[in-house]
Amino acid sequence: MTRIFSGIKPSGHLTLGNYLGAVRQWVATEQRPDEALFCVVDLHALTVEHDPARVRRLSRQAATLLLAAGLDPRVCTLFVQSHVDEHTRLAYVLECTAADGELRRMIQYKEKAAKAQAAGEGVRLSLLTYPVLMAADILAYGTEEVPVGEDQRQHVELTRDLAVRFNQRYGYTFTVPRATTPAVAARVMDLQQPTSKMGKSEAVGSGIVYLLDEPEVITKKVMRAVTDNEGGVVYEREDRPGAANLLDILAACTGGDPAVLAGGYSGYGQLKRDVAEAVVETLRPVRQRHAELAADPAAVDAVLRAGAERARAIARPVVDRAYEAIGLLVP
Ligand code: AMP
Ligand code: TRP
Repeated sequence: MTRIFSGIKPSGHLTLGNYLGAVRQWVATEQRPDEALFCVVDLHALTVEHDPARVRRLSRQAATLLLAAGLDPRVCTLFVQSHVDEHTRLAYVLECTAADGELRRMIQYKEKAAKAQAAGEGVRLSLLTYPVLMAADILAYGTEEVPVGEDQRQHVELTRDLAVRFNQRYGYTFTVPRATTPAVAARVMDLQQPTSKMGKSEAVGSGIVYLLDEPEVITKKVMRAVTDNEGGVVYEREDRPGAANLLDILAACTGGDPAVLAGGYSGYGQLKRDVAEAVVETLRPVRQRHAELAADPAAVDAVLRAGAERARAIARPVVDRAYEAIGLLVP
């Protein structure tokens, strides 16, 4: 049985990128006889300027959307990171394993720190240590597989390095995990800026499809997607990123191969119409189910409470072992 863990930050509304890159893979794991845990990583949403009421609202909304997307709490464990103390308990020990330099090299840190500085905001220390907390999220559960989008590969690599280093120094304690990314749409790009990731924390929403967007809004965003002025439709990620992104999204929604799909089109008009329809139909059931589940927030809270209890029971002995191995007296 493979142990699977992944997480999502409640730092904005969930996007098509989250869905195709991560959440859909999570739902697919339920067909396997494995043990999977999925986590709304609320502590990670505090690493940049945040509004407390919004984080609270988005945390419940993310959990509701994950259930709406098809996560079944009878099959997997769904919970909120801050409900399980083991994450921060382990993070400290891993801070004593990680080096300052390797954290400063993280691409996401460099990008976000530069952005915060440009906006005149301070850089929170937690933004630097964020990947250590993420490593703790993963290692606390003896995780083997981490289904994520391409942008998280570097963080999972760091997690592996920390696990190996800790095991070498203090004796075998942690399972060394690996990242898994989907074959297509592992990095969905912004429809207006196809060289940047479609990110939920971005301020401008016109290039971002949100899971709860109305069908007409989705269609408008896709029809206005930036492409290029070259003739025909070909799949070239470097030279024609806008078209490649549309083909990736189409392939992810309809199950084809993006390069092969390109051959069926002579212009962008028809491609965009097909992409819009495919995205609308992919997200329609999620939106409908979300409306039903959102009507009963107490039921979602109950799922999260039960999930936290199950998660705690798995993480506690792993973190205790790490405490003992590194030289702490376990009471
Ligand atoms: P985040 O929104 O950063 O909490 O990401 C949650 C999950 O969604 C992670 O596994 C990310 O790798 C994935 N993800 C986020 N944005 C995208 C994107 N544009 N394309 C593919 N995967 C994404
Ligand atoms: N850092 C991830 C992101 O920004 C979210 C995350 C936190 C995560 N902890 C995790 C993902 C553990 C996988 C496993 O997307």
